[in-house]
Amino acid sequence: MTFEISTTETTSKAELYASLQSQLRSLLEGERDFIANAANFSSLLYHSLPHLNWAGFYLLKDGELVLGPFQGKPACVRIAMGKGVCGTAAEQRQTILVENVHEFPGHIACDSESNSEIVVPLIADQQLIGVLDLDSPLFSRFDEEDAEGLNQLAEILMTETEGEFTFV
Ligand code: SME
Repeated sequence: MTFEISTTETTSKAELYASLQSQLRSLLEGERDFIANAANFSSLLYHSLPHLNWAGFYLLKDGELVLGPFQGKPACVRIAMGKGVCGTAAEQRQTILVENVHEFPGHIACDSESNSEIVVPLIADQQLIGVLDLDSPLFSRFDEEDAEGLNQLAEILMTETEGEFTFV
C-alpha cells in the first residue's frame, strides 16, 4: 500500500481537519486492528499538523496509561491515572488544552522542547481506552478548533476499530 499524505494548502483549521477526516477514513479503510490504525493515525497527525514535536497514544492497561503508537522522541512509558496532563484527561474523561505546560501542576516533561499540549480521551462504549496526546514547541499551539477537530478524528478511529481493543 502507498498512502500519500495530502500536502494541499488549506486556508483554515476547519479545512485542514475536514481534509484529515477524509484522509483518515481512507487510511483506516478495510483494517480493524487498533494498534495498526492508531500507529497510522499518529503518523498522519504528526506529518500534517504544523508545529508538533510529539503525537501519539497512551493506552489504559491494568489501571494505568501505557505508551502506545506514537511519532516523536522516545517518551515516558507509564503514567498513573490522575497524573500529568494525560492522566488528568483520562481520569476526568475530558479534553485538556494546556497553553503553557510549565504552568500545569504535575505536568510530565518527556521532551524539553514541549511548551503546549492537548490530550483527548478515547472512549468506546462508555469505557476509557486511553488518550491521544499532542505536544508542540509553540506556546498556545492548540485551541478549541483543534479540540473539536481532534475529537472528531478520534471518534473515527474508535468507530473504525469498534470492538477490536484486544490490547486491553
Ligand atoms: N506531558 C504528558 C506526558 C506525555 S508526553 O508529553 C509524550 C503529561 O503531562 O501527561
